[in-house]
Amino acid sequence: MGRAYRVVLAYSGGVDTSVCIPYLKHEWGVEDVITLAVDLGQGAAMEPIREKALKSGAAESLVATVTDQFVKDYAFPALQANALYENRYPLSTALARPLIAKLLVEAAEKHGADAVAHGCTGKGNDQVRFDVSIAALNPNLKVLTPAREWGMSREETIAYGERYGIPAPVKKSSPYSIDENLLGRAIEAGVLEDPWAEPPEEVYAMTKAIADTPNEPEYVEIGFERGTPVSLNGTTLDPVALVTQMNELAGKHGVGRIDMIENRLVGIKSREIYETPALLVLIDAHRDLESLTLTADVTQYKRGIEQTYAQMIYNGLWYSPLRDAMDAFVQKTQERVTGTVRVKLFKGTSTIVGRKSPNSLYSMDLATYGAEDKFDHKAAEGFVYVWGLPTRAWAETGRQ
Ligand code: ARG
Repeated sequence: MGRAYRVVLAYSGGVDTSVCIPYLKHEWGVEDVITLAVDLGQGAAMEPIREKALKSGAAESLVATVTDQFVKDYAFPALQANALYENRYPLSTALARPLIAKLLVEAAEKHGADAVAHGCTGKGNDQVRFDVSIAALNPNLKVLTPAREWGMSREETIAYGERYGIPAPVKKSSPYSIDENLLGRAIEAGVLEDPWAEPPEEVYAMTKAIADTPNEPEYVEIGFERGTPVSLNGTTLDPVALVTQMNELAGKHGVGRIDMIENRLVGIKSREIYETPALLVLIDAHRDLESLTLTADVTQYKRGIEQTYAQMIYNGLWYSPLRDAMDAFVQKTQERVTGTVRVKLFKGTSTIVGRKSPNSLYSMDLATYGAEDKFDHKAAEGFVYVWGLPTRAWAETGRQ
């Protein structure tokens, strides 16, 4: 890998990405490190992060606030695909990576950098998502990954930073590794590494323990238009406000916790705790509205590809021809997914208790067991006979 002179580094303000700044300059001979901190609604103040990058030796420190774009262009398409990795994880972290990669590439092009850099280690999925997304968007850019190569322990990293004026973390740093944004939190390491150990209550921040949730259920009506959530309890909300409010509502009732063993792309099984209150409720509601408004064959075919869609996001293939093509299919299916889903939140559970749509394919006249029944029972007889013909032939043959 040839030398890079100007690099845009994805910057979080933590020790590792801070240490990347002097490391790139002093070990790898980079002249200018431009940092880019991305606000995805994680609730952190960005100004101190911006200043910390400069104090750590950055030539320039950029901040991008993209929460709106994150929800509209990444979270909602995934929601329309009901994307749940291994049927459980709504990809809150995974969805952020292609957007950060896009911002890195744009900043590199704008500032005349010949490389981008990130602080991912070599064991996780995020390195894959960054590297592959960057390659998809600009295959000529080099990707520098100091933390994947420097081989320093935690203590050595902190000591290295101190030599260049990067303060060691003041409070005893958390035993957990936490990634967060508006969509949720991912927590790993510490005692969580033992898959038998129950997560201590302290790991949770967005969701209440069941013991602390209200003793009365709360109902919320989620309005969808063409597969996108647009309102809560009749009030139209922009995407960020909607997700924020849904997070609060669900979190208050202890809804949104996931404790799972997942299969990383790099072959390792890991134990991860997630809190993704809004996404879990919204996906469940959206899937239900699809059942009301899509034909049987479209519903069932779509369910069959949703797992693949989720895997692509997890495995770093957001910018890929397959996801593009599948997205076109998903978008087409959403044309009639408009309506309202009624959800009951209570003691850690979210239950769908009603749904309605101007495009509903449900017919009371056909479904009822009452006197209004319009279904032609006689017609069923011939249908069942024809439907059963192959089975009948098979059974008769087997008897001889
Ligand atoms: N396992 C999740 C993923 O690959 C989250 C990883 C985020 N990092 C963390 N510190 N928990 O999407």
